Amino acid sequence: MEDRKYLFVRVLEACNADCFFCGFALSRDRYRLQPDELAGILAQAAEMGVGHVRFTGGEPLMHREILPLVRVGAALPAKVSLITNGLLLPRMAEELAEAGLDQVIVSIDSGFAEQHNEYRNTPNLFEKAFEGIAEARRHRIRVRVNTVVGPHNYQSMPELAKTLRDAGVEQWELSALKLSDQITYPDREDVVRVAEAVYEGDGLIPMGKRWFGDTPEERDQYFERGIPPRSSGDVCRVTDDVMYLDPKEGYLFPCSLLPHRSTPVLYGAQVRNDDGSFTLDSPTFRERRLFFRENGANLCTGCSSSAAGYSDRAASGTPQPSWSY
Ligand SMILES: C[S@@+](CC[C@H](N)C(=O)[O-])C[C@H]1O[C@@H](n2cnc3c(N)ncnc32)[C@H](O)[C@@H]1O
Repeated sequence: MEDRKYLFVRVLEACNADCFFCGFALSRDRYRLQPDELAGILAQAAEMGVGHVRFTGGEPLMHREILPLVRVGAALPAKVSLITNGLLLPRMAEELAEAGLDQVIVSIDSGFAEQHNEYRNTPNLFEKAFEGIAEARRHRIRVRVNTVVGPHNYQSMPELAKTLRDAGVEQWELSALKLSDQITYPDREDVVRVAEAVYEGDGLIPMGKRWFGDTPEERDQYFERGIPPRSSGDVCRVTDDVMYLDPKEGYLFPCSLLPHRSTPVLYGAQVRNDDGSFTLDSPTFRERRLFFRENGANLCTGCSSSAAGYSDRAASGTPQPSWSY
């Protein structure tokens, strides 16, 4: 059985940051996925070829049982990662490493501390995130940074590229901000100019496609219609390798970008049984996965640069290194 697949798990919805663009900002939701529930889920996920487990939220480091959750994944054995705003990372990195965390993904949106802290409306978040990155590296956790980029912050990306290189960050995902309204930029040529300093510069080079597209067609689609670059070709191969579970509502999605669109019943499959247990590999899930495999490349309006790049690399037959999604 291949074990290259990824399962994202939203372990809670509560969050301690107040990001202006996020539906979970300062959520006080009380749901928490329990380690014994995760063990049942991951046993099935392993049967489906999952070798990479990624915890998201909400803010995973607010989950009081995040260490037992990491241990459950590591014992599978799977490679375990989590996505965090980094606020609690400096004090938790050592224990996370001991529990078996393989990779941490820290969200950082500007090369300048005061801008990042303002976008996320959280004092000292930038400083804590970089302290956390240093601690994680000290304890041999791989570090990736995810950045959400839009008209508000694209000009600080060259600065961030250098800061991430200097901090020893290994991977960088630079993905388009998505809001319910179409994103517009006052000067498209300026975006392309600034981005060249990032993608052709000597800082850390982001994964996947440029957030506004690599080809003239993708760029027109982004700047004129607000649709970020997607998989090229006829099918979306992200659906072959990626699943996202929202255990609170019981939905499994065939891509990590779909749960943030509205109407889960159309994009995901209900996989929670009446007794509270989960059956991940359901006929409805297979149907949804096939639908988005065949139609996502023409239909999705919320893809990410790294997902689109991942799909294209898979289509080209290039072997995908570990943690390439
Ligand atoms: C929902 S957060 C959960 C993990 C963690 N609390 C964090 O801040 O990284 C997961 C990722 O989604 C991104 N995100 C949230 N709202 C977004 C939006 N409107 N457009 C694009 N990405 C978004 C965040 O920046 C973060 O990298």
